Formats: sequence, C-alpha cells, structure tokens
Amino acid sequence: MIPGLTLDIHEDAERNAMADAMDVMSHAFDPAYGEAWTLSQLAGVMVMPGTWLTIARVDAAVLGFALVRSVLDECELLLLAVHPLWRGRGVGRTLLADSLKTARRRGIRSMNLEVRSSNNAIKLYENMGFEYVHRRPGYYRGQDGQLHDALSFRIEIIE
Ligand SMILES: CC(C)(COP(=O)(O)OP(=O)(O)OC[C@H]1O[C@@H](n2cnc3c(N)ncnc32)[C@H](O)[C@@H]1OP(=O)(O)O)[C@@H](O)C(=O)NCCC(=O)NCCS
Repeated sequence: MIPGLTLDIHEDAERNAMADAMDVMSHAFDPAYGEAWTLSQLAGVMVMPGTWLTIARVDAAVLGFALVRSVLDECELLLLAVHPLWRGRGVGRTLLADSLKTARRRGIRSMNLEVRSSNNAIKLYENMGFEYVHRRPGYYRGQDGQLHDALSFRIEIIE
C-alpha cells in the first residue's frame, strides 16, 4: 500500500476531477488499441445519474482512477487506469476494491466489465473474484486495423 494514498469519489462532471482523470488516461492506455476515452466521452458519462469516478491521489500526484456506471441494482466498470509510473504497487487493486465497496454500500448487486482478451488486467479481475461470462470475437479494432476479442466478466456483490 502506498503511504498517503487517498481515494475521492466524484459524482458530477467536475472540471478538475475530469482533468485529473484525463491526465492518467493520456498516459495509461496503449494508443495501439484506441481504448482511451476523450474528455467529451468522459463528460458525457459523468452527467448520467448513477455514475461515479474514484480518483487515487498522493498529495498533488494523480495515480489512477476507476469509472463506474450503475443502473438500478447493476453496475459496470467502464474504465480502470493507473499511471504507468505507479503500476505494480496495488493502486489498481485498491481502486477496484473501493469501487466494489461503494457499489455494495449503494445496494448494487453485481458489477460487469468488458476487457480486451490480451489485457493483463484480466489477472487482476480474476484475483478479485470476477467470473468469465462470454467472449465477443473482434469487438475491439486496434490502430492497425487488427481486431481483438472482448471478454466479459461479472461479480456478484450481494448474493
Ligand atoms: C490494469 C491496471 C489498472 C493495473 O494497475 P496496477 O496498479 O498496476 O495494479 P496492481 O498493482 O493493483 O496489481 C494488481 C494485480 O493485477 C495484475 N497485474 C497488474 N498489472 C499486471 C501486469 N502488467 N502483468 C501481469 N499482471 C498484472 C496482477 O495480478 C496484480 O496482482 P499481484 O500484485 O498480486 O501480482 C494498469 O495496468 C493499467 O492502467 N493498465 C492500462 C489501462 C487498462 O488496460 N485498464 C483495464 C481496462 S479498462
């Protein structure tokens, strides 16, 4: 665990919080896969009711974020990203655990997510208890035009 790590939850399209998330976004995602969102995509989701953005910080440094959208008693992990300089130190796991905790507190029963089949994050999701649901062949198109399968995972939060 990183000393001094704080997690802040943002539920509105706050300009500063979105700028912090965009800073991580621009460094975290490999451009080859075109997975990073634009600011307007992020703002579009943040204005929807039931969306929350959790940002991990140490002092002024922004380490990573998780973005979750909920509808009734289900939610979806839309994005999870940690700045490359801060990887491998438990920030991703902490953000995911906190997102699950927030969901549970809100009475949400399950969390779904979709991830490129070659993404290392799958190991994290499985370690956290997510179960594989199905594969969507060729769901993502990389910069070079190559297609990548998406895997969907789900975890029951409240049985
Ligand atoms: C996925 C991501 C959020 C993980 O963040 P992180 O802070 O490095 O993760 P943690 O340090 O909490 O590691 C948690 C677990 O994830 C797995 N993991 C994370 N990065 C890994 C890597 N590069 N290779 C293999 N396993 C990895 C490990 O199982 C690790 O558990 P361990 O420490 O017990 O081995 C980060 O790599 C990232 O931002 N990736 C780019 C964005 C992305 O693809 N997000 C997911 C789809 S939205």
